[in-house]
Amino acid sequence: MATLDSLLPPDLQARVRAETGAWLVTGAAGFIGSNLVEALLGLGQAVVGLDNFATGHRRNLDEVEQLVGPEAWSRFRFIEGDIRTIDDCRAACAGVRHVLHQAALGSVPRSIEDPLATHAANATGFINMLVAARDAGVASFTYAASSSTYGDEPSLPKVEDRIGRALSPYAATKLFDEIYAEVFARCYGFKSVGLRYFNVFGRRQDPEGAYAAVIPQWIATMIRGEDVFINGDGETTRDFCHVANAVQANLLAALSTDEHRDLVYNVAVGQRTSLNQLFEGLVQQLAAENLHYDRPPVHREFRAGDVRHSLADISRAATRLGYVPTHTLVQGLGEAMPWYLGFIAQQARSP
Ligand SMILES: NC(=O)c1ccc[n+]([C@@H]2O[C@H](COP(=O)([O-])OP(=O)(O)OC[C@H]3O[C@@H](n4cnc5c(N)ncnc54)[C@H](O)[C@@H]3O)[C@@H](O)[C@H]2O)c1
Repeated sequence: MATLDSLLPPDLQARVRAETGAWLVTGAAGFIGSNLVEALLGLGQAVVGLDNFATGHRRNLDEVEQLVGPEAWSRFRFIEGDIRTIDDCRAACAGVRHVLHQAALGSVPRSIEDPLATHAANATGFINMLVAARDAGVASFTYAASSSTYGDEPSLPKVEDRIGRALSPYAATKLFDEIYAEVFARCYGFKSVGLRYFNVFGRRQDPEGAYAAVIPQWIATMIRGEDVFINGDGETTRDFCHVANAVQANLLAALSTDEHRDLVYNVAVGQRTSLNQLFEGLVQQLAAENLHYDRPPVHREFRAGDVRHSLADISRAATRLGYVPTHTLVQGLGEAMPWYLGFIAQQARSP
């Protein structure tokens, strides 16, 4: 499997290679974080990773180590720590040039069940990271925001300056992060960039557990030959974004010029896919791998807190950051599918 950096635009690869300072990736053992670590190490960078394994896995870091090889891995330093603790954030930020803050508790349903845990990681952890990064004098601070911030705003496509009311505690914490980021720019001159991810998917996104995202969960379910459940009528739409696009946006944001900081950007493809279309697409992708899934989907109740339609206008990221998604949903699934097949087969073999 090629390392993630090889999926990035060549000019961006060259710009990152020319960087000399260290990078901090929080949430390094998670899905997006581990892909950032992989790309940065592949591009010759020194990287510090911070994670408390709340939802991330050591196996993700082990896989990155295997993929990048011993020389690149020697440039990685891992801190097992917690963003809810300011001292851990300070230790991680020390001597770092760029911060890519990904650590958070994802999932709308998790936040509805346990809003305090979501708040502690996503809101308190976020302001801890802002304070630690500001005090350490880092050159850039880029953070994972979320399309959930659009809430009940009905208009499509979603443009950054038009948001509705938050529909879940998770969305509330991500909005809180944007407000604090803005306030830190105003009060302390500490600018940051928020990336509103829209349904990111790809290698190492966890297919297991009650809060798994739809793509890995369905792929795993289909491979096992079990029933796939669709919440609602299946006409709910999403703008699915392969992780290579999300990594690209992070690196562009970190290297952006000052006038393009202090803003939030949509990170997606700008294409809308219904859950029914996604189901059919996955069936076809698996058939291409000689795995035939022939059960119809089982429809059940809509899920509380879910946004009905999601489609991004990505023109702000395109014009200000130079963001051009390299992977559509179909291309991204093609890239991710071999990883999922390998992962599920390995899980089935382990006791
Ligand atoms: N995947 C998506 O579609 C998506 C969409 C919108 C926003 N986001 C945001 O992107 C970021 C990364 O998400 P992901 O999909 O990679 O999820 P993930 O769960 O795979 O990664 C999050 C990582 O953060 C770590 N973490 C959680 N709480 C922590 C704490 N208190 N201290 C230290 N580490 C902690 C977890 O252990 C995990 O490794 C999150 O901020 C998430 O809210 C993701």
